[in-house]
Amino acid sequence: MPGTLEPYHSGESKVQPRTRSLSRREDLPVLYDRLLKLKEMFTSKFGSLPKFYVRAPGRVNIIGEHIDYCGYSVLPMAVEQDILIAVEPVKTHTLHLANTNPLYLDFSTSANNIQIDKTKPLWHNYFLCGFKGIQEHFGLSKLTGMNCLVDGTIPPSSGLSSSSALVCCAGLVTLTVLGMNLSKVELAEICAKSERYIGTEGGGMDQSISFLAEEGTAKLIEFNPLRATDVKLPSGAAFVIANSCVEMNKAATSHFNIRVMECRLAAKLLAKYKNLQWDRILRLQEVQTKLGVSLEEMLLVIEDALHSEPYSPEEICRYLGISLEDLRTQILSPNTQDVLIFKLYQRAKHVYSEAARVLQFKKICEEAPDNMIQLLGELMNQSHMSCRDMYECSCPELDQLVDTCRKFGAQGSRLTGAGWGGCTVSIVPADKLPSFLANVHEAYYQRSDGSLAPNKQSLFATKPGGGALVFLEA
Ligand code: GLA
Repeated sequence: MPGTLEPYHSGESKVQPRTRSLSRREDLPVLYDRLLKLKEMFTSKFGSLPKFYVRAPGRVNIIGEHIDYCGYSVLPMAVEQDILIAVEPVKTHTLHLANTNPLYLDFSTSANNIQIDKTKPLWHNYFLCGFKGIQEHFGLSKLTGMNCLVDGTIPPSSGLSSSSALVCCAGLVTLTVLGMNLSKVELAEICAKSERYIGTEGGGMDQSISFLAEEGTAKLIEFNPLRATDVKLPSGAAFVIANSCVEMNKAATSHFNIRVMECRLAAKLLAKYKNLQWDRILRLQEVQTKLGVSLEEMLLVIEDALHSEPYSPEEICRYLGISLEDLRTQILSPNTQDVLIFKLYQRAKHVYSEAARVLQFKKICEEAPDNMIQLLGELMNQSHMSCRDMYECSCPELDQLVDTCRKFGAQGSRLTGAGWGGCTVSIVPADKLPSFLANVHEAYYQRSDGSLAPNKQSLFATKPGGGALVFLEA
């Protein structure tokens, strides 16, 4: 049976895993059966044994939505659901990828010529992102091939970061095959960058928590420079994930990138309004830092500088003194060039207020007042309202699910992840958990029209899990 490598403990330390012999089921209570099964499937698929296994977790973002790519801190924790890959390096230069889920078809390519198809976000493209990211980081032109069998337990397109977990897992697989070392922070940064090969302009939250997570604690993830600080969640609260059962693949539509571009444009207009060098500015956080003011003051600046009516591309160009051609080629991403309406006021308002809520959430966790669950819940409720009304990244099903969760005892409930579908996260007093789960199950999932197909992954309480790991055959 596979042995484990020690988890890497510090964000700064190099990834130098040590092997521990481990052959007992008790030492791998959750993974043992899955690893055995994966090993068997690998052998029947490739006719050989895997040399090692890599696991990278998904995440739930507790608060701080759509602000990582604006430069602001977020507050996620890793979940138990993960991507697990069995790996065998091979002498040829071919990369063979297979998946335990028959819906995801086998894929093979030359390791020396990685092409990522942005037009179709097929599963193997996420593997290729992590693979290519590491290859490019080390400037390698010839890579060894490998056989990989991928097994995932994160529901796809549900806001729990299944795609980033696959990118991170593939990055760590590649690093391990090459026998190279990187710190967890470096790995997270490379994987955040390389996931953009798929075409979405995500921030670094998902990849950072997948590597930097530690069991038992949520993390405040800060960017530039990237670092993670423990945030101890209240012991009397359960965090419950509920899937709206509406799938949303952020790479399959332009919703996500439109928001990233709206924030970028809002940052540029605010910078211009304040006579800053706007052409160098990309993120809303840079405007705040350059002005040296508080988030609350930024909310006042927005009131003066931006109007609540949507902006047309022409108005933006007039204001910045650039041509439509410049806007398209210098500022917008390829899939947002034809957008006709940009809601800059609303998006900026969400970002600055949400960034402030993250800091308040952390402060309440540190100070632990008597009514902390209620206070944290209020912040989560405000976050959902802002996502729904200002950022427009919710959907009717998510709003309904959030209402249902609140009705049955959640002190706070909000969409988590990119939105437009996927999951909610709720804070529920621990003593109310059993009745909460039963009632939400009945009210949301047992609909009389039978239109939903929930499973045991649709509604569950979760605890902060650990980050990415490598397992070796003992
Ligand atoms: C996706 C992105 C993240 C983050 C969230 C929204 O998960 O990958 O970087 O922007 O959406 O908070």
